[in-house]
Parts: sequence; structure tokens; C-alpha cells
Amino acid sequence: MWGGRFAEGPAAVMREINASIPFDKRLWRQDIAGSRAHVEMLAAQGVVSAADAARIGEGLAQVAAEYEAQGVPEDLALEDIHMATESRLAELIGPAAGRLHTARSRNDQVATDFRLWVRDAIDSVDRGLKALLQALVARADEHAASVMPGFTHLQVAQPVTLGHHLMAYHEMIRRDRSRFGDARVRLNECPLGAAALAGTGFPIDRHATAAALGFDRPTANSLDSVSDRDFALDYLMAATQCALHLSRLAEEIIIWASQPYGFVKLPDAYSTGSSIMPQKRNPDAAELVRGHSGRIAGCMTALVMTMKGLPLAYSKDMQDDKPPVFEAHDLLALSIAAMTGMVETITFRTDRMRAAAEAGFSTATDLADWLVRIGDIPFREAHHITGRVVKLAEERGAALVDLPLDALQAIDARIDARLYDALSVDASVASRRSHGGTAPDQVRARIADARAALEDEA
Ligand code: ARG
Repeated sequence: MWGGRFAEGPAAVMREINASIPFDKRLWRQDIAGSRAHVEMLAAQGVVSAADAARIGEGLAQVAAEYEAQGVPEDLALEDIHMATESRLAELIGPAAGRLHTARSRNDQVATDFRLWVRDAIDSVDRGLKALLQALVARADEHAASVMPGFTHLQVAQPVTLGHHLMAYHEMIRRDRSRFGDARVRLNECPLGAAALAGTGFPIDRHATAAALGFDRPTANSLDSVSDRDFALDYLMAATQCALHLSRLAEEIIIWASQPYGFVKLPDAYSTGSSIMPQKRNPDAAELVRGHSGRIAGCMTALVMTMKGLPLAYSKDMQDDKPPVFEAHDLLALSIAAMTGMVETITFRTDRMRAAAEAGFSTATDLADWLVRIGDIPFREAHHITGRVVKLAEERGAALVDLPLDALQAIDARIDARLYDALSVDASVASRRSHGGTAPDQVRARIADARAALEDEA
């Protein structure tokens, strides 16, 4: 296609390093859509005849049908999806095919195709994340009042409700959707018509092609249009942040599923066995979600490094933008689907969670708070008294609620029997009614907000 000035063909290794068709064939739908919009615009502007445009349009439809039926052939000599399609078009319709590339370059073509692809990727991730949110909200509602230990430093800290814990992930995933949404807004400008780098002398209508392809407007600067990959980086950064969130939930599922915790049981559908240890039931899906997050972050880093320091406008380095985006997207889509499946089907062993919350002196803060409220003792002093109570409980191997009143009063005479009401894990969680706190009625209120927001979208 570009051999006019060359006497010899490329070396085999040149062909191989140069070709992107093995991976960019994944853009074929977007490439066909971009070409159709382009040729229709060219005809409307009188740059190509209506007859040629019709022939090209029919030819492109046939190429698309072939790709759909047989896949895209991988001919390294044709380099990329753009040339593969144009060359097949020429075989099908003859010389008129040569008019398609008028007022266009592969530089604006690939930028357009890739934006369209990433836009679809964002939309599909968003659908997946919405399903995950719905699953989290449903399970949180079921467990709005189920008590579990809340941790800091992975040490039992204060009792919380399982619903509250799950709704924490709802918040993370809600922000992830918003990040993808922001990326989509910035992405949605059309580079088609920037041509190689400087624009074109043909009387094209960039607003028409932008509208035909569902973009909000054409891009404003032709140099930027062919050299910008922010949209791919925005996607990868949002994907990385989202994968980090998924990895944290995955990690908790892994910890919770281990026998010493026993907080959850994963269904058979999301567990694997061991070939040597018959008793094993491994949380492989959760481990792979955790692992994939590292690979997704790696994809993000790869494109950051590719783009760093590139001069304007297009450089071939940028051909390497696609593999990390494709890889990250596939990994993220799988991770979201697997996490949604796990959240929907996991069994929470609320008896074990409650026992763990009761075992770890998790209501020690409630004891100190009681001393402040009822005894009007400064918090620092109350903290000190509580420390002595915890020490005593530890020595006796007893829970705080099980210490006799005389033993408590020996530590501080201001303690009376009303204290026991404050020491149960249920009383503890019920008391934390501050906005966004773990009290079951607070959790239910946040669940109602979340449901309303999800329904508002529909
Ligand atoms: N396959 C190329 C890519 O993905 C298309 C653009 C090629 N442009 C060029 N001037 N060689 O980036």
C-alpha cells in the first residue's frame, strides 16, 4: 500500500516487528464503522461520487460479514487491520476502494477506532460493575444487623455489621464507575479528519463523522488528535483503581475462607480442589482476582512508559498501546464477573463472625465511652481504666461481659450494673448511629440510598 518509493520489500523481521494485525484485528468492528462514516461524509461533501461511496459501503459490509463468519485473516504483509480491510475491499470492489483513504490517514483512523473500542469497553465494564453493586447491596441488606469483628491492623477493633462492611465495597465500586464515567466524557471526541497530523485540504465535515460515530464533537487540534492516548491511559488508570478494590475484597474472602477464621464458605462453583489433599477447598477465583490486579497495574505502567517522552505527533511506539489495554480489559471483565458471582453465592457464617466479635474484647471502646458518658470521666482516664479491665479479662480468660460486678468495681468504684448493657456486641453496633456509622438502621438507610441511585439510572 505504501511501496511506491521502495525498491525492495521489508526483511522478514521488519515485517514481524512492524505488524500489528495479530492484535489490532480486535478493532475490526470499529474500523469498519469508522470507514463507513468517513465515506458517507466524503460523498455528502462531493469528495467522492455517490456511486463509488455506495460501492465502498456495500464492500465494507461484505468484509464485515466475512470477518464475522471467518475471523480476520492475519497477513503480516498487510500490517494492520486498516490495511487488511482496505486490501480485501479492493479485491471485492476494485479500484473504487482506493478512494476510501482520501482525506484520512491511518493515524487518525487508528485513533478513532481505538477510542470507539475503549468506549465500548467502558460501557461493558460499567454494566459489570453495576451488577456487582446490586449484588453487594442485596447481600448487605440481608446482613444489615449481622455482627462481625471490625479490624484495624487485622486485629479485632470494634464490632461492625457485615452489611456495613459490604457497603464499604459498594462505595469503592461506585467511585470506580464514576471514574470510568469521567474517562468516557473526556474520550468522546472524534479524531477522524485530523489525517496524518496537520488536517486535510479536502472539504471534509468533521462534525458529521463525529456525530455519525456517536462522539460529542470533533477534536480541536489535529496534532493532539493523532498523538493523544490519554483516553487509553484514563481507562487503564480507572481499571487499575478498580482492580485494586477488587483485590482487597478478594483478599478478605481468602482470609475469611481459611479454617481459623471460617467466616465464609464459598460454593463449589467458585472453589477448586487439590489433586493431592482431598480435604482442600481453595478460593482460586478470589486469588486470581487478587493476582490479576497486579497484571492490570502492569498494563497501566506499560502504556505510561510507552507514552513517556514521545514527541508530537504520531510515533510507531504508539502501536504498542493496544495490547496492554486489551489485556487489562479482559482481566478486569473476568475479575468483575468472578467477584459478582462470589458475592452472590458466598455463605456468610454469621455465628462464627459473631463469636469472633465477642471473643476479642471488641467492645472495650464502648466500656470507655460508657465511663465518659455515665461517670463523666475524661476519655484518657476512661481509656486507662478500660485497659485494666481488659487485662483482668485476659487473665481470667473471660469476655468483658462475663466479669463480675465486684471485680469491675474493684478497678473503679464508679462502675455499676448498667455497664453490662453497653458491653454486648449488639448494643455496641446499635449505638454507632452517626451518619455513615455501622448501626443497622444507618446501614439500612445507606442501602436505601444506594438502591435509589441504582434505580434512578434505569
Ligand atoms: N497500526 C498502526 C497503529 O496501530 C496504525 C497507524 C500507523 N500509522 C503509520 N503512520 N504507520 O498505530
